[in-house]
Amino acid sequence: MNERITPADIVAMKRRGEKIPSLTAYDYPTTKLLDEAGVPLILVGDSLGMVVLGYPDTTHVTMDEMVHHVRAAARAKPRALLAADLPFESYAAPEIALANARRLIAAGADAVKAEGGRSIAAQVKAITSAGIPFFGHLGMLPQHVLEEGGYRVKGRSEDQRQALLADAHALEEAGAFAIVLELVTPPVAVEVSKAIGIPTIGIGSGPDCDGQILVTPDLVGGFPWFTPKFAKPRAAIGAEIKRAVGEWMTSVTGTAGG
Ligand code: KIV
Repeated sequence: MNERITPADIVAMKRRGEKIPSLTAYDYPTTKLLDEAGVPLILVGDSLGMVVLGYPDTTHVTMDEMVHHVRAAARAKPRALLAADLPFESYAAPEIALANARRLIAAGADAVKAEGGRSIAAQVKAITSAGIPFFGHLGMLPQHVLEEGGYRVKGRSEDQRQALLADAHALEEAGAFAIVLELVTPPVAVEVSKAIGIPTIGIGSGPDCDGQILVTPDLVGGFPWFTPKFAKPRAAIGAEIKRAVGEWMTSVTGTAGG
C-alpha cells in the first residue's frame, strides 16, 4: 500500500488501537530516512530553532525559516503525513493564522500545528474551515517559555487537569485530527486520551498516549549538548560524526587528532 497517509488514517489508527509513532524532520535526507523507516507522521517542528538553527528557544523561529525547511522536507515526497509548525506569533488572529497556514501548505506541508486550546479555537476553526488539516499541541507549550519562565510539567493541579480536558475538547470540536501532549502528567494524559476521539501524541507524557513523538536529534544523539530527561537516545550520531572526521583527518595528515 503506497498511498499517502491522511489525517483520517491517523485517526483510524487510534480507533484500531494501533500506536502512532511520530518524529520531527527539518530537511530532505532526514524526511526520506524517516519515511523509508515507515514513520507515518512527520513534523517539521519549530524545535528547528534549537536543534538546527542554534537559537536558545523556539520563539525566534520565523515563518520564512519554517517555509524554507518545509520545502526541503517536502522534496522527499514522503508517504507519511507531513505536518509543520506555525511559529511564534504567526497565528495571533484567525485571518493571520489562515494566511500563514496557507503558506506552509503551499511549501509542501499536508497539515499545520499550533500551540494552545480554547485560546486559539477561532484560529483553528478558520484553518480547518478552509480545508487545512490541523494538529493541536497542549500541555507544556514551548512558545510560551519566556512568559512562563521555564518548561513546566502540566496536569499537576486540578485546575490544570480541567483546563487540559477543556482545551482537548475545544480542539477536537474545532476540527483538529490529533493533539500533541507535551510534558503532561501520565494519569492526566491517559484521561485526556480517553476523553477524545482523536489521537493524542505524547512527548514526556508517559507511555499511554495514542502515539509518541520525539525530536529526532534527541532519539539519535544528533544534538549531544542537551537531551531532555524523557528521551533515551538509541544512537550516537554526534559521536559517530566526530569519530569519522577524526579518522579521516588522520588519513589526511598522517597524525592522530585531539
Ligand atoms: O517543535 C517540535 O518539534 C514539537 C514537538 C516536540 C512535538 O512541537
